[in-house]
Amino acid sequence: MTKFGVHERPLPDLFADAAFDAFDDSGIEPPEIEALYFGNAMGGMTENDTHLAPTLASHIGCTGVPAQRFEDACATSANAFKHAVEAVESGRHDVVLAGGVERCTPETGLGTGAMTKVFVSAAHRQYEQPAGLTFPGVFALLTKRHMHEYGTTEEHLAEVAVKNHYNGTLNPRAHFGRETTVEKVLDSPIVADPFHLMDCCPFSDGASAVVVASEEAAESFENPVDVAGVGHATDVVPLADKDALPATQAARDAASQAYDQAGTTADAIDFAEIHDCFTGAEVMATEALGLFEDGAGGPAAAAGRTALDGDVPVNPSGGLKAKGHPLGATGTAQLVELTEQLRGEAGERQLDDPERAVAHNLGGDAATTVVTVMEARQ
Ligand code: COA
Repeated sequence: MTKFGVHERPLPDLFADAAFDAFDDSGIEPPEIEALYFGNAMGGMTENDTHLAPTLASHIGCTGVPAQRFEDACATSANAFKHAVEAVESGRHDVVLAGGVERCTPETGLGTGAMTKVFVSAAHRQYEQPAGLTFPGVFALLTKRHMHEYGTTEEHLAEVAVKNHYNGTLNPRAHFGRETTVEKVLDSPIVADPFHLMDCCPFSDGASAVVVASEEAAESFENPVDVAGVGHATDVVPLADKDALPATQAARDAASQAYDQAGTTADAIDFAEIHDCFTGAEVMATEALGLFEDGAGGPAAAAGRTALDGDVPVNPSGGLKAKGHPLGATGTAQLVELTEQLRGEAGERQLDDPERAVAHNLGGDAATTVVTVMEARQ
């Protein structure tokens, strides 16, 4: 993956950086790629760039291969990855490149207000957009309900930001490399109650890519990891129509599929990369993935259980909060972190011999979720 942050370069150049990193890492040449599945959620609106599939394929030396752009709000590249896995599982392709690229910073010419409006296109067109609901607003409502039902506090949420900012200081590719404190989080301006500025992920530019290969094709790779399961589920979009607001049902369904495919349970997960677009989203996801009981996610974060030295480290990369969130690149960037940790190559933030990990990438009003379980090779 590229560093996440501010990039002045066009989408094809940015994606090529991540793609060539992935080629180098697996020891393959571009002509060995049989298909390209990648995510870009907002490029039509942010950069007037829509027919990206053949552009990216030819830009990285894969002219002529079947190439497909996926659009699934923030869950875009995890969904591209899921389709790459299915293409290999079915026997149709042996080696597929999956990834994503997005630019969301003012380098696109769009500031915070304009970009917030672009992102809102992923909320419900008839019921939520006319009401002025933004994504900080969507997750604030979900989190408020969680606080109401379980007693989760703003301090619990702030602990998530503190942890992820600390982890980000150990990740050279993170957008933010600065620590923060609970006091600073709580003193930062309110964006959407209960979220302060420091509870929110930033707007970021970046790209990420992974090579997905069959067992046989991966034999020549230096240090592959195994994809053990990929679940993908949806939920109704409008918050008003969801059965149980803080439950994020799509995450529960996708996790159950992924764990079943992997023949595992949440108890056997060594660490997680979670879609913490807002601190409350991380708390809810730790529960939806079964890492903690419902309502226990906030106290668990505050007790240090999700820290690098905790019993269930969450977001060792810094998460979206500190590593950054270029929508279409986020899903496969989580898988880059899983891969590096499972190989023991995560540098200063390396966990102690993890064997199995889960990634959780959601889109829109938590209405699309992709959950992936990966395992180290024994
Ligand atoms: N976390 C930490 N620091 C942040 C930050 C964030 N999310 N966003 C901005 N900053 C920092 C900037 O680096 C800058 O620091 P500096 O003064 O030291 O240079 C300062 O805060 C002000 O930055 P600015 O860009 O002017 O902030 P803003 O008020 O325009 O935007 C948010 C801040 C939180 C409103 C914006 O980042 C946001 O909307 N984030 C959510 C994005 C989103 O909805 N994503 C989809 C998720 S589903």
